[in-house]
Amino acid sequence: MILGVAYYPEHWPEERWETDARLMREAGITRVRIGEFAWHRMEPKDGAFQFDWLKRAVELLGRHGIKTILGTPTPTYPAWLHMKHPDIHQVNSNGTIREFGMRQDACKNHPGYRDYARRIVTRLADALGKHPDVVAWQTDNEFGCHGTARCWCSYCRKAFQEWLRKRFSNDIRALNTAWGTFFWSQDYNSFDEIGVPRDTAGCAGNDGQNPALVLDFYRFSSDVQVEFQREQIKILRAKSPGRLITHNLMGAHRTVNYFHLAADIDVVSWDNYPFSSNGTNLPPNSMHHDLMRGCKQKNVWVMEQGSGQGGWGSYNATPQPGQMRLWAWQAVARGADMVSFFRWRSCRWGREQYWHGLLYHHGQPQRRYQEAKALGAELAALSKELDGTTVESQVGILFDYDSIWALETQPCAQGFDYIALCREYAQAFARLGVTADGVSLDSDLSRYDLLIAPSMHLITPEGAERLKAYVHNGGTLLLGPRSGVKDTEDAVVDALLPGLLREPAGCHVEDYDNFGMVKNLTMHVRDEDDRVWPARIMADVLVPEGKARTLLTYAGHYYAGKPAAVENPYGNGVCIYLGTLLDESGLRMLAERLLRRVHVSAISGLPECVEVVCRVKPGGTYTFYLNHSAHPVAVDLVRPGVDLISGKETTGKTEIAGFNLLIVKERG
Ligand code: GLA
Ligand code: ZN
Repeated sequence: MILGVAYYPEHWPEERWETDARLMREAGITRVRIGEFAWHRMEPKDGAFQFDWLKRAVELLGRHGIKTILGTPTPTYPAWLHMKHPDIHQVNSNGTIREFGMRQDACKNHPGYRDYARRIVTRLADALGKHPDVVAWQTDNEFGCHGTARCWCSYCRKAFQEWLRKRFSNDIRALNTAWGTFFWSQDYNSFDEIGVPRDTAGCAGNDGQNPALVLDFYRFSSDVQVEFQREQIKILRAKSPGRLITHNLMGAHRTVNYFHLAADIDVVSWDNYPFSSNGTNLPPNSMHHDLMRGCKQKNVWVMEQGSGQGGWGSYNATPQPGQMRLWAWQAVARGADMVSFFRWRSCRWGREQYWHGLLYHHGQPQRRYQEAKALGAELAALSKELDGTTVESQVGILFDYDSIWALETQPCAQGFDYIALCREYAQAFARLGVTADGVSLDSDLSRYDLLIAPSMHLITPEGAERLKAYVHNGGTLLLGPRSGVKDTEDAVVDALLPGLLREPAGCHVEDYDNFGMVKNLTMHVRDEDDRVWPARIMADVLVPEGKARTLLTYAGHYYAGKPAAVENPYGNGVCIYLGTLLDESGLRMLAERLLRRVHVSAISGLPECVEVVCRVKPGGTYTFYLNHSAHPVAVDLVRPGVDLISGKETTGKTEIAGFNLLIVKERG
């Protein structure tokens, strides 16, 4: 277990570095991430490189036992580069430019930017790549933040055309057919005619343009980020052998396919700001942890974790005493092997003056520093126990970018949001003490007894085969509403829904409705025991086929009495098609039912504010009980054992103080 911090030596006089390093060391911090925004400090003028200051910082920290994760500085391009290439900036969908002053805002398809980015990474790797104190690299910083994964400039237009040329094997007729361009006379005679989906009459880009074009543009935009990172990784692997490469992801993010991005790096890192945790409930970030862990189906690093109030203009609540520590332990519980705070010292200047660090602007250690220090000691003491442990989930939730993007353009019904559904499922499982990895169709699905597809809206033939094989081999699959509607190219399938998934689903859709639009209608579904549960937004009206049986029926509107959920035995497994959205109570019922079916033990009666997660290794099971409220709460321990935090034997009903936790190591 490693404690780290984001450090910006370039923000402070060099005489201060020693004090910083000493204070860090005293707090048990053994990693810093530095450099990711310091392009101008590294290359103040075109080709005039200066890495000495950085080397001095790395070595000074090294002398205090602190190793460096070095960031490539490409998110913030220097002003001189802008002068050289006045059109280096990204362009919005309405054609206006993204002015100098932010980050991630250089166009990644601008050849000048690409050349300079390659060069600074190469020179940085030459200067420090083999330094013994540099142990890892972070590529760039948060690809796609501030909505920058997508750019509508002329370089991107050209690159998009090339991307399409490849995708359709240079056959424009194939593209026309796939996209159905005869609609509104949009047929193209050549790839050069195709544009990026800028705003149209009356509509923002993704609302007015052909959805098939928009979907391919989203896929292309994500590929651009992945490709850009790949270029850096190639340089780093060649010039800095033996160092781990990571990137700091942003949790459940929409615009970059994180499974693709993660495939090229050694460790997934991510930036965790659980500020909306209100101190009474589970913080809503368990889904992020679970998805980040699911990206490579491995443990992760938290590269940035909120360590003070965050905000650019106004800031949010300060983490209450104990909360920073609790969030750090939550991260560990859910699969992190490093927790690194953002940032060391609140910066006196710049847009992030109010995005606070462990120290306030004055740099004197106060409460949050002391809390980090206590955590540092605790992590060090428990490392031996916890190193090598992992989270073994038996449940997976599909985070399917094609479906997310298809629904982003056409959500079908207001409020139908794929990622929001993922969160609801993740929360439902978290409340039952069950972790669920966020995974893709290409992940190893055979690990999971239960797989949730909140809506398999767009499904390719290969994807359908994977899901069929999963169920066939004994898996239990839940398919949400509006599944199987779109094909690979975003056309609506020419088949009874759910199209390619009809066979495993054992039903077809007779009708579908957005009942959320019907005035004064409240909808329910009824289960076999005649209990009713609220239903939300939409309804796929189902017709069971073959051996399928009905689990839920609609209890309202013109389809009252018709199936709302159907269960179908398929091969050695089972597929359940749920045609509507449930509320929290309904999801809990469903989750409990599904878990029972796959023999995964759920914990009922957990207090609202308590999160329970396990990490295991051969010969050791460690159950974390995290109390996210400010007040003490009693829990029934699943199993007796020794609480590693207090060192005491624990069994049965046990009290956990406010913002505190138990880590119960099972005997034996
Ligand atoms: C992100 C970035 C950091 C910082 C914080 C706070 O996570 O990676 O550089 O900007 O947000 O805004
Ligand atoms: Zn561009």
